Amino acid sequence: MAGAARASSSLLDHATLVLLIALVAAHVPLPVRAQDTVTAGRPLSGDAKLVSRGGKFAMGFFQPDGGVSGRWYVGIWYNNIAVRTPVWVANRDRPVSDPAASRLAIAPDGNLALLDPSGSPVWSTNATGNASNATVAAVLLDTGNLVLAPASNASDVLWQSFDHIGDTWLPGGKLRRDKATGAIQGMTSWRARGDPAPGMYTLQLDPAGAPQYVLLWNGTRKYWLTGDWNGRFFTGAPEVAASGGDSGYSFRFVDNDRESYFTYSFADNSTVYRFVTDVSGQVKGWFWVEAFQRWNLVYAEPKARCAVPRGCGAFGVCSDAAAACACARGFTPRDAVSWSLGDTTGGCVRNTELQCGNNGSAAAAAAGSGTKVDRFFRMDGMRLPEDGRVTGAASSDECESACVGNCACSAYAYNGSCVLWNGELQNLEEGYGNQLAGAGSLYLRLAASEFPMARSHKRRTVEIAVGATAIVCFVLAASIIVVRTAMARRTKRIQGLTITTAEGRVTRFEYRDLQALTKNFSDKLGGGSFGSVFRGQLPNGGAAVAVKKLEGLRQGEKQFRAEVSTLGTIQHVNLIRLLGFCSEGGDRRLLVYEYMPNGSLDRQLFGATPPTLSWRARHHIAVGVAKGLAYLHDECRDRIIHCDVKPENILLDAGFAPKVADFGLAKLVGRDFSRVLTTMRGTVGYLAPEWIGGEAITAKADVFSYGMTLFEIVSGRRNVEHGKSEPDSSSSGAGDHAATATATTFFPLLAARRLVEAEGDVKALLDPELGGDANAEEVRRVCKVACWCIQDDVDARPTMAEVVKALEGLTDLEMPPVPRYLEVLAGRPMHQIQQTT
Ligand SMILES: *[C@@H]1O[C@H](CO)[C@@H](O)[C@H](O)[C@H]1NC(C)=O
Ligand SMILES: *[C@@H]1O[C@H](CO)[C@@H](O)[C@H](O)[C@H]1NC(C)=O
Ligand SMILES: *[C@@H]1O[C@H](CO)[C@@H](O)[C@H](O)[C@H]1NC(C)=O
Ligand SMILES: *[C@@H]1O[C@H](CO)[C@@H](O)[C@H](O)[C@H]1NC(C)=O
Ligand SMILES: *[C@@H]1O[C@H](CO)[C@@H](O)[C@H](O)[C@H]1NC(C)=O
Ligand SMILES: *[C@@H]1O[C@H](CO)[C@@H](O)[C@H](O)[C@H]1NC(C)=O
Ligand SMILES: *[C@@H]1O[C@H](CO)[C@@H](O)[C@H](O)[C@H]1NC(C)=O
Ligand SMILES: *[C@@H]1O[C@H](CO)[C@@H](O)[C@H](O)[C@H]1NC(C)=O
Repeated sequence: MAGAARASSSLLDHATLVLLIALVAAHVPLPVRAQDTVTAGRPLSGDAKLVSRGGKFAMGFFQPDGGVSGRWYVGIWYNNIAVRTPVWVANRDRPVSDPAASRLAIAPDGNLALLDPSGSPVWSTNATGNASNATVAAVLLDTGNLVLAPASNASDVLWQSFDHIGDTWLPGGKLRRDKATGAIQGMTSWRARGDPAPGMYTLQLDPAGAPQYVLLWNGTRKYWLTGDWNGRFFTGAPEVAASGGDSGYSFRFVDNDRESYFTYSFADNSTVYRFVTDVSGQVKGWFWVEAFQRWNLVYAEPKARCAVPRGCGAFGVCSDAAAACACARGFTPRDAVSWSLGDTTGGCVRNTELQCGNNGSAAAAAAGSGTKVDRFFRMDGMRLPEDGRVTGAASSDECESACVGNCACSAYAYNGSCVLWNGELQNLEEGYGNQLAGAGSLYLRLAASEFPMARSHKRRTVEIAVGATAIVCFVLAASIIVVRTAMARRTKRIQGLTITTAEGRVTRFEYRDLQALTKNFSDKLGGGSFGSVFRGQLPNGGAAVAVKKLEGLRQGEKQFRAEVSTLGTIQHVNLIRLLGFCSEGGDRRLLVYEYMPNGSLDRQLFGATPPTLSWRARHHIAVGVAKGLAYLHDECRDRIIHCDVKPENILLDAGFAPKVADFGLAKLVGRDFSRVLTTMRGTVGYLAPEWIGGEAITAKADVFSYGMTLFEIVSGRRNVEHGKSEPDSSSSGAGDHAATATATTFFPLLAARRLVEAEGDVKALLDPELGGDANAEEVRRVCKVACWCIQDDVDARPTMAEVVKALEGLTDLEMPPVPRYLEVLAGRPMHQIQQTT
């Protein structure tokens, strides 16, 4: 009996052991929990850390610069995100040097404090008056909030980190105004990457009392406003709303007699989101995308980078057109690493010191001849910085002399009066017309060695001669253009609305003309990502046209016209021709295109009763689209990335020849993150992984989307069947969760595996509607090309020009590997990916 009992007990033990091993292997937390509380008896020190109860957040000593400076901080970060991302730092501007000898502890006065090795507080919650040290405890919660409260009553909050936001606003946090003290809590950027000390940029409630947020530079200068909260959204930032639609967030304004604040939350509390005042001076929203192990940027304001004061630092030049900073001629970034990571506020330093005077002495400069060795570099079309000094000099030459005579003077401009700048130049911005108010040519002082060759008198004469010739040529050219334009105008007036579609001229229409053409927008052809499309007819028996009404455009009139005229010059047999446009006021922006009688490719491929496209036609379409994209990528004057390649944007003419539509619109509409977000949600099946990662988008993103489209051309069905669901036992059956893509439904993965495993025998993948009537060699080639196009590695994907060659059989491709990204995608429910992107 005893032996049997023993045997069974040891058997049990064995089972328990197996279970335990299984548990450990599955990373299920063991019953012994990590510490989540600091009490009088349990301080935190060295490399120990607090972990919140659910394991989401951790807190402890860390080095934000990876240990370069030897500075240690106490902070909170995501416990199970491999990319160390701090969301709160206690001792922002008072680092400690020895974490093992420093303690985060309950101080004798009952506050949570960081004590240095000598026991004096470096940082303190500074909240309680006289609570006894034995009775309070600080707890790290699963929301990322650190709460100080009496051990006997956790809801009697004495202090919490959510009331003292650093640079990151987490869901549930409060960016508030304390009505008792009048104090406003700001969300202040780090000083630089790796340095959590408070920087210059702060997001906070409007100090004037309006229910809105403002971005301030140095606590005073407002450079961006959300506009007032109207109960549903911020009037100047309508994408931040009480209810955030699909992404499931809600924003709330609370105003009681103690405080007023905004807070936000997500319906799905597994969403990992953070909102940050970035070192760049922008506020940015980031989602964590588990599938790709990356933060995905979904929100950034102000969009115009040059709106951020000192965003490019000293001697940095901001360009809104390039959405980037560059150092002025003769300068290089002060900190190249930070600069390359997007923190440009450190600015630029001279390559060569100025020769002027002896160490900045003006007297010496005026006396010595050394002054002549510095020279001035002319920068045209600059917005002149505000902090210049206006002097009495009455000509450009006198102005230059005034600057030369003062070694502190770093630049001058002459715009009728002479303006001088001393020391570091901030807020330089290019891309302005010289004739605009506040803009002009700026002369920047540089060491003579920064100029390629010393200037001799002879050379100067030559330059003057060349300059004069250039001016004459310019005047001539200008008058020709003026005369031509006048003639063109006359021609247009005579022709009325009959369009000559010759040599890439884009006609400008009046809004009422387009109303007439489209019978007051009565015949709607469809609605794309940028607005609705209507059918129209040119007068006097003219051609049919498609008129697109653009929505949500924020671009200025001038820029809009510049973009439109660029698009008008693009002509290729596989690209839709832009015939004209209309731009009246802010909201009447329309584009007029040639009309395509056979509609878009998606209708032909997936329509309710599709008149099946033959394999010949499909192959022809695939090659044509590739040629159109290759032209956009390589042969246009400015490379154009389409950004939204999908069957909806491929139109078919009367002979079923394909024409790519909507190219150039991404740029025309402008960089708008919320729009990118919407587009991404709509077309998740075509997006390259780099979109999700917030990385720079190159032409290879189009190659990826083209690859996805190729698979659909082959299979005749959507890669991701929106709305059609696989039975999913874990799903609650809610509508949102219906779209699941598994290994069996995600066609590109199926195709890629089959291609690799069956050594190119892919005829089984073909649209059943074709009844096998296709050239097997072509099908194999198309699948191979498609699979190369959707590789994770951007460099592994072919260019569109290479795609054309491969499809035409002029080159042969190796067998591609199965993209890892697809395996990840297929491994999880589609709704997770959609929600987080
Ligand atoms: C609590 O504070 C008292 C003095 O008020 C001090 O003597 C004692 O050491 C403190 N206890 C701890 C654990 O810090
Ligand atoms: C506590 O607050 C006072 C004033 O409110 C301030 O002077 C002091 O520096 C603070 N102490 C710490 C350790 O933060
Ligand atoms: C702290 O205690 C002292 C005396 O024990 C008292 O005078 C003071 O008012 C108390 N402060 C607070 C904030 O309770
Ligand atoms: C705990 O603190 C809260 C907030 O101060 C208070 O409303 C509640 O009555 C307290 N509970 C106990 C048991 O003291
Ligand atoms: C920032 O503001 C403070 C006072 O408000 C001022 O003393 C300081 O010079 C300002 N900093 C810069 C860089 O202008
Ligand atoms: C998230 O939601 C689940 C279920 O509603 C709940 O059990 C859990 O405590 C929540 N977690 C947090 C951090 O709020
Ligand atoms: C200027 O002179 C001071 C002392 O006279 C010296 O410390 C400093 O390095 C000099 N600066 C330059 C740029 O030469
Ligand atoms: C020239 O520039 C200065 C400084 O930017 C400005 O105050 C002044 O009004 C400008 N003058 C003209 C004529 O534009």
